[in-house]
Amino acid sequence: MLAVENLEVRYGGIMALRGVSIEVAKGETVLLVGANGAGKSSLINAVIGLVNASKGSVRFAGRDLSALSCDCRARAGIGYSPEGRRVFSTMSVKDNVLTGAHGRGKVAQREAWDWLSGIFPLLKERAAQPAGQLSGGEQQIVAFARAMSSFPDLVLLDEPFLGLAPVWIARISEAVRQMQARGTTILMTEQMARPALKLATRGYVMRGGEVRRSGTVAEIRDLALAEEYL
Ligand SMILES: Nc1ncnc2c1ncn2[C@@H]1O[C@H](COP(=O)(O)OP(=O)(O)OP(=O)(O)O)[C@@H](O)[C@H]1O
Ligand SMILES: [Mg+2]
Repeated sequence: MLAVENLEVRYGGIMALRGVSIEVAKGETVLLVGANGAGKSSLINAVIGLVNASKGSVRFAGRDLSALSCDCRARAGIGYSPEGRRVFSTMSVKDNVLTGAHGRGKVAQREAWDWLSGIFPLLKERAAQPAGQLSGGEQQIVAFARAMSSFPDLVLLDEPFLGLAPVWIARISEAVRQMQARGTTILMTEQMARPALKLATRGYVMRGGEVRRSGTVAEIRDLALAEEYL
């Protein structure tokens, strides 16, 4: 479903990705692990189109994405939850969630809202409240729900557990399982490898802008956990 080939990303003189290739098959949950600065977010951002690649290609459902804007990539069926639980802080919780389903019509938006507020009662309880007033964990739920509100075929989750208490990690994990049950394909990054390894089928360990190892969760577990302490 997603094929990244020999991808290179540079920020001025800094080379953040040095020829990275990964594949994600339909229905898989693939984990990118690695220490700070390994290049995980750069890879995610190059897939959704927030950063430009200086070399290589990103193909989604057989289609080369290079020429498409972020918006077009989202409409092609890719959802994105950014690192650091970014929400529109003055916008209500409900509007934040539905920006992900923007342009899809009232029926699809209602369906998305009913589904997501069923999974996360918090969204219903706080629907009218400005999202900036929520706690960090609550904002992460909003960012996550926004990524899901378009019913994407592929969803990119950049550090969904960052800074969260165990109870919130469990809630997000449960929502990921519900997405998996719907057949959603998932590419997630996580420094906190332990809970993420429970959700993934396969993974890539990154360091210094390169893939160090790839394989099933069992095959990468030891290296992934070692990277956590770098
Ligand atoms: N906008 C930017 N401008 C300049 N350098 C950047 C920018 N974004 C990232 N970098 C650099 O690119 C490299 C890879 O960063 P990236 O954010 O992809 O890593 P990461 O694996 O997501 O790290 P973290 O776990 O801290 O989120 C780092 O050396 C970082 O300093
Ligand atoms: Mg990152």
